[in-house]
Amino acid sequence: MDQQYIASPNILKRQLIGDGSPFAVAEAYKAARTNLMFMRSGDGCQKIVITSPLVGEGKSINCINIGIALAQSGQRVLIVDADMRRSVVRRVFSEGTGDGLSELLAGVVDRGKLNDFIIRTDRENLSILPAGHMPPNPAELLASKQMGDLLGVLSARYDYILIDTPPVSVVTDAVVLSRIADGFLLVVRSGHTPIDSLKDSVSQLERVGANIIGFLFNDVNAKSSYRKYGKRGEYIYYGHYDNGKGGAGQSKERAKNGTGQRGKSIDGHEQTQ
Ligand SMILES: Nc1ncnc2c1ncn2[C@@H]1O[C@H](COP(=O)(O)OP(=O)(O)O)[C@@H](O)[C@H]1O
Ligand SMILES: [Mg+2]
Repeated sequence: MDQQYIASPNILKRQLIGDGSPFAVAEAYKAARTNLMFMRSGDGCQKIVITSPLVGEGKSINCINIGIALAQSGQRVLIVDADMRRSVVRRVFSEGTGDGLSELLAGVVDRGKLNDFIIRTDRENLSILPAGHMPPNPAELLASKQMGDLLGVLSARYDYILIDTPPVSVVTDAVVLSRIADGFLLVVRSGHTPIDSLKDSVSQLERVGANIIGFLFNDVNAKSSYRKYGKRGEYIYYGHYDNGKGGAGQSKERAKNGTGQRGKSIDGHEQTQ
């Protein structure tokens, strides 16, 4: 896999939105936040799974930045790192490793001490629940009754729980959360996500009755109206949900209708993987 798609906590740290973010990047996340807030189902805490077909499509960075954007608007946000296989959330916000979700679910730590595992970040209103150490059976733990119970307890404390997960086309970890999540947000990455993988992921999620609330089209080539982002200026974050005018909405149709071609990425570029 191309090096640029492999997450490093240090790179992710530099890509967090904040005061110094380019205008277009900040605006894109604000738009994503607004759309997400309009898509609320009911009054309670919204539990949203962020996933994508493959590794390296921007699940983690977008999960974190949407979390920051929601927290900036006063929402109480918890990011749960449910990617126990390649966890990064903790290392983006703090040093070292430690126990977290996997130990809580496996019952190897006292679940009554849940608070000890939640880390308040330096961003107001934003906390994280790290993945913990990699267990032998991540999907089983995420599908367990304990996961439902845990999210039930946490729902009382937060307005949004964003759940970062491994890729749908690779392992079942994200899919098994369909019963307890309010919605799934699928990240597709320009030039990277193959149309067949996206179709496959959508079918897998639909088969289990998951509520796909939208698509986030990541790393869209900068057009003149969008400034480039990143050290060498290659990429741009552009979170665009279905607004009925194209963009991510078209992605869903294309995924369903199968208008893409084998071997091509979602936007028709040669895929890099
Ligand atoms: N739009 C983008 N612009 C620049 N770098 C990006 C973009 N999206 C993702 N990346 C980088 O690609 C790598 C993989 O992103 P990550 O969020 O970890 O993907 P995933 O969680 O889907 O595996 C990271 O190093 C991240 O910084
Ligand atoms: Mg990730």
